[in-house]
Amino acid sequence: MPKFECHLFVCCNQRKPGHKRGCCDPDGSEELRDALKSELKRRGLGPLVRANSAGCLDQCELGPTVVIYPQAIWYGGVTLADVPRIVEETVIGGRVLEDLRIPDDKLNPKAGR
Ligand code: FES
Repeated sequence: MPKFECHLFVCCNQRKPGHKRGCCDPDGSEELRDALKSELKRRGLGPLVRANSAGCLDQCELGPTVVIYPQAIWYGGVTLADVPRIVEETVIGGRVLEDLRIPDDKLNPKAGR
């Protein structure tokens, strides 16, 4: 069985309203993950590319957050409207969408680099 070529982890973490860090999926709908799954399926990528719901990816202030492996591309502020181009440009084309990319120096601010 071939291994997966690409995994998209979509933060579906939900927190109570007013939490100081906010959250990526305030209503718990997981609609961003569902939209990515649907787009992957529509493009015939389903068997080897997966979109999985994830818990908090610790980039809450920059969310909604999606990380794509194996490239380790971090996207923030992702909306449903971004889904087709994430699949087209990044998953299929291998190109990074700079307007969505979380710069390396903004990732993991608590790591104290
Ligand atoms: S709630 Fe999504 S990264 Fe923390």
